[in-house]
Amino acid sequence: MTPYVADPVYLNGQFLPLAAAGVSPLDRGFLYGDGVYELIPVYSRHPFRLDEHLQRLQATLDGIRLANPLSSAEWRAVVEQLIASAPWADQSIYLQVTRGADNKRDHAFPPASVTPTAFAFSAPLTTTPDAVRARGVAAITVSDQRWARCDLKVISLLANILARQQAVEEGCAEALLIRDGYLKEGAASNIFIVKAGVLLAPPKTRLMLPGITYDLVIELADHHGQALQIREISEAELHDADEVWMTSSTKEVLAITTLDGKPVGNGTPGPCGEQMYRWYQNFKNTVMRKG
Ligand code: PDD
Repeated sequence: MTPYVADPVYLNGQFLPLAAAGVSPLDRGFLYGDGVYELIPVYSRHPFRLDEHLQRLQATLDGIRLANPLSSAEWRAVVEQLIASAPWADQSIYLQVTRGADNKRDHAFPPASVTPTAFAFSAPLTTTPDAVRARGVAAITVSDQRWARCDLKVISLLANILARQQAVEEGCAEALLIRDGYLKEGAASNIFIVKAGVLLAPPKTRLMLPGITYDLVIELADHHGQALQIREISEAELHDADEVWMTSSTKEVLAITTLDGKPVGNGTPGPCGEQMYRWYQNFKNTVMRKG
């Protein structure tokens, strides 16, 4: 059986087999979802934008007032060791920090003597099959039920989980989250639309995760002279879009060709998305794979 998680994993300063890695049931990640995470894609054993991922991890830790248990150099060393030990060239590195395990359950922060739990592992990077990418995927819109700090990459993901499960049960790949009549993002992705050749992206606010892939897509658009507007996108504009794309470290740039059961544009991946996909792949092969 191909293992999903490579051995060893990292837990609290040690590299050890997954089967030997244990966390207390009183860990606040388990009791409260009180923790943060990152997912870093690795191409040809080179982590993509590790500094930016570590900065976002730090921003999230600051946002939940939890001291980072590792320095950037220490995280970098952990990531490098996991990448070197894993059997795959393309990987996804998962990092998680929780507020640790106290000897009791209390919502308020535990005493300073309670140390955070730091966990990390490598898994193979799963990519979208060519046939799926070529026809695009279906998505639904749902009301955004999350809290008011969606810019923080926290492990408490219940609203995202319920939204994506609803999408799966309706035969769809993603749920697009609408708050107060505006598109924010997907349950596990950022969303772009195209109207009359202009690429539109929702702005980074506290109600959207600042995606590393989102940044790259905007950089590629700027670099290649693709017309771009960063502004709020209404639900009506979303439904009237010529193209809708989802972006994330694992989905890269993926066309949404059916939305709420209706075709987006002509129901096939549009020209701007296809162009962005080629720019992205070219960047991946010429920059990301070289480290
Ligand atoms: N999710 N928005 C949300 C809510 C996300 O969960 C993600 C990524 C993104 C895209 O961020 P990035 O481009 O940095 O991957 C946007 C990851 C892949 C996950 O939860 O596994």
